[in-house]
Amino acid sequence: HRHLLGIEALRPEEIASVLDLADRYAALNRQPDKHGHALAGLTQINMFFENSTRTQASFEIAGKRLGADVMNMAMQASSVKKGETLIDTALTLNAMHPDLLVVRHPQSGAVDLLAQKVNCAVLNAGDGRHEHPTQALLDALTIRRAKGRLHRLSIAICGDIAHSRVARSNILLLGKMENRLRLIGPPTLLPSGIAEFGVEVFENMAEGLKDVDVVMMLRLQKERMDGGFIPSEREYYHRFGLDAEKLSHAKPDAIVMHPGPMNRGVEIDGTLADDINRSVIQDQVEMGVAVRMAAMDLLAQNLKLTRAEPA
Ligand code: CP
Repeated sequence: HRHLLGIEALRPEEIASVLDLADRYAALNRQPDKHGHALAGLTQINMFFENSTRTQASFEIAGKRLGADVMNMAMQASSVKKGETLIDTALTLNAMHPDLLVVRHPQSGAVDLLAQKVNCAVLNAGDGRHEHPTQALLDALTIRRAKGRLHRLSIAICGDIAHSRVARSNILLLGKMENRLRLIGPPTLLPSGIAEFGVEVFENMAEGLKDVDVVMMLRLQKERMDGGFIPSEREYYHRFGLDAEKLSHAKPDAIVMHPGPMNRGVEIDGTLADDINRSVIQDQVEMGVAVRMAAMDLLAQNLKLTRAEPA
């Protein structure tokens, strides 16, 4: 592939090879000298049109650990504020010959559109409600390391699924790897036409969590609710917030995940989120760096091959 725009285009064996390489980078990241050279001489530009802590920091660290020249565009201070369009901004940066462009944008499909206009490899760092492929890959690596496999697991994704690109990418990835998926949430926060994804749907946490191996919690994404129904946080926590009692319906060794940022006391109990015997939330963050190193390494290898081909 030239770009990483979504999980939809990836075959199961391609997903497995990204995770295998990321596993090797996870080991490198725990060594005192974390330097690799896979991106030496390459230029990486990060363009985040939407707020981020984990994704932006880990893409920057990943690029630097592999030797790239990394530039973070401060979009709030850019000429976008003077009315320059996304595409004109991308074409302007493209003229500076970057090799890797990492893009987050609030509109679904914006990153795909941009990828058609530039010569470099584009990585989707989250576009609207559409996809967040590196998040799904880091979640998959975290699950594989915790459970020893990434197939035939029973996995519950809980909460605001309708507005979540994380849920969408995870449903695609975990489905391709032949896991059993359960979606749990109020009907107002479940997407329409969900049955076609081959998942089971529950409105009750106790029923939905019964005997699952993995519990993945999601934030209420109010920024994408467009003035629609926003549930009361108290009522929501009572019915759908994960606490020790609700988790007791899952398998005794079930792991708790959350992509972050999390709202303690809204979708998850803070003590449970911090319980390292159950929660792998910090492992997800750690795997984020390794997965982004692997994804950029593989795209850079393709880029070098393409450029080496005779015209
Ligand atoms: N999970 C995730 O994408 O977090 P950020 O918005 O902080 O990057």
